[in-house]
Amino acid sequence: MTYESEAISRAFYAALTPAGLAGRTRTEWDEIVLRDLAEMLPPTSRILDLGCGYGRLSVPLAVAGYRVTGLDLSPAMIQAAQQNAAAADVPIPFGVGSMTDLPYDDASFDVVLCLWSAFHELLEADAQTRAIHEMWRVLEDDGFGLLEGPPYTSPTEEEIASGKRRGPEYRERWDVVEGFLNPHYLHDALSFAERCRAAGVTSFAVLPRDWGGRPRLLLHLTKTAGGAPPAGGRTS
Ligand SMILES: C[S@@+](CC[C@H](N)C(=O)[O-])C[C@H]1O[C@@H](n2cnc3c(N)ncnc32)[C@H](O)[C@@H]1O
Repeated sequence: MTYESEAISRAFYAALTPAGLAGRTRTEWDEIVLRDLAEMLPPTSRILDLGCGYGRLSVPLAVAGYRVTGLDLSPAMIQAAQQNAAAADVPIPFGVGSMTDLPYDDASFDVVLCLWSAFHELLEADAQTRAIHEMWRVLEDDGFGLLEGPPYTSPTEEEIASGKRRGPEYRERWDVVEGFLNPHYLHDALSFAERCRAAGVTSFAVLPRDWGGRPRLLLHLTKTAGGAPPAGGRTS
């Protein structure tokens, strides 16, 4: 099943191009993210980078010795990621596909990353639940998942009147980036908790924090080995 928001994302990245996406970050921001990830990632983890783009993080993580796999909706991004991996001489299996339907076996990764708003491009509640369910399914016991994106803010009257904010509770923010529509769903602790519970995730935390030099909201999924799962999630 293809969601409408996936078609919008595909069209957006075809127009933006990998070079256009790379132009929207800075080396120093990437370095901050990689430094923060290094503090979280167990050595030699099997990492799935969902919505990996042109390999901004996948490639340096593989160079650092992690076993990285990357998946992205955009064929152009994956082609660029393959070229960047080849240039860095690291073997990374990259694939074109959606985070809502992962082509990987259960419990095949120690860490699932979904960073820089990739998850937030899914506008449909059902698509969001499916993506979280898929991340949880492919996580190994004792593994963790990390999503990061823009936090929910109350819409202004002007945003509502102009149609910039739409959808349930005005959580869709229809950004225009480089002249192209690039909508994002703005999550908070409540919406993340609803999706996690619907996806069967038994342990999660929602954490507001600085990420890559800007305030973001993180969803952290923790898959505990064996034992009885906690009754619900934790938000903080
Ligand atoms: C802003 S870029 C971030 C790329 C990468 N995560 C990073 O941190 O550099 C968002 C990426 O998510 C991808 N994406 C959006 N929706 C997706 C989906 N449903 N499944 C897989 N990838 C998706 C886009 O194609 C795009 O490459």
